[in-house]
Amino acid sequence: MTSLDYSQCREAAIRRLFDASGLCLEIGPSYNPILPKRGGQRVETVDHCDAATLRAKYANQPGVDIERIEDVDHVWRGEPLADLVGPGRFDVVIASHVIEHTPDMLGFLRECERALAPGGRLVLAVPDRRRTFDFFRPASTTGAVLQAHHEKRTRHAPGAAFDFIANFCTFDGRQGTGTEAAATFAVSNPVQDAASGFSYYATGGEYHDCHAWVFTPSSFRLIVSDLAAIGAVALREEGFWETPIFEFVTVLSREASGCPLGRADLLVAAHREAATPAAPRPARPAT
Ligand SMILES: C[S@@+](CC[C@H](N)C(=O)[O-])C[C@H]1O[C@@H](n2cnc3c(N)ncnc32)[C@H](O)[C@@H]1O
Repeated sequence: MTSLDYSQCREAAIRRLFDASGLCLEIGPSYNPILPKRGGQRVETVDHCDAATLRAKYANQPGVDIERIEDVDHVWRGEPLADLVGPGRFDVVIASHVIEHTPDMLGFLRECERALAPGGRLVLAVPDRRRTFDFFRPASTTGAVLQAHHEKRTRHAPGAAFDFIANFCTFDGRQGTGTEAAATFAVSNPVQDAASGFSYYATGGEYHDCHAWVFTPSSFRLIVSDLAAIGAVALREEGFWETPIFEFVTVLSREASGCPLGRADLLVAAHREAATPAAPRPARPAT
């Protein structure tokens, strides 16, 4: 499938990777539900805010069709996810472009696991940092994921916010590299903005979002394998797909045997991915 074909039918392509006939929970569907209620899916949804607030938030964002935002069944205000939606109920829990936003990634995985019925599956679509505005950020490690859980983070670490803001880049004027290697990039924010962001995130008050976690396909698989190997989660890799665009998709379940690649192979693969594709050149203002 070409990248254009995939982009045009992304949600349908992801749906084909698992059996969505049972009761599903979609976390953070926003304006891009993978399992739309209007498509007849048996799905409940969770988000930070209700549909009216989401529609107001995205009303003026270019390229966003707010008509696609559906009613939110469970509004998440920071309580454990499985307490909110009910433990052990769902055959599928799906979260597309959400895990990288969670302050405590391990806590998120464990709560998704707790929400699953016996035999249930967690489906995650995750951005590949090599194709996004996180291009220059190094991939997250298992140790950092454990640290966040140890600290019981419910808000983003100010340092993660600093890195997110300081290294946010556009590529040939877009927020990602696209499907081809970009020719040029530009850093979006002065580093002083990142320092202000650090202070802002450090001083409490309102919750602020950012990409706390950054992955390439193999760095993500390594973290999940590590967490399963040390008994931090019971979920293991059942399937893994790289897509032709900016994301990869994985299916995890308690019954799966796990990633077929060993730890050393994943380390080598993650190391290779860290250097690909080659960095574009800085964009220079026209003279
Ligand atoms: C980048 S958007 C992804 C939207 C859509 N799923 C997609 O694939 O395009 C992230 C979504 O996750 C939601 N989200 C982020 N953190 C969340 C959390 N802790 N609980 C519930 N929803 C969350 C946001 O409100 C937003 O709807």
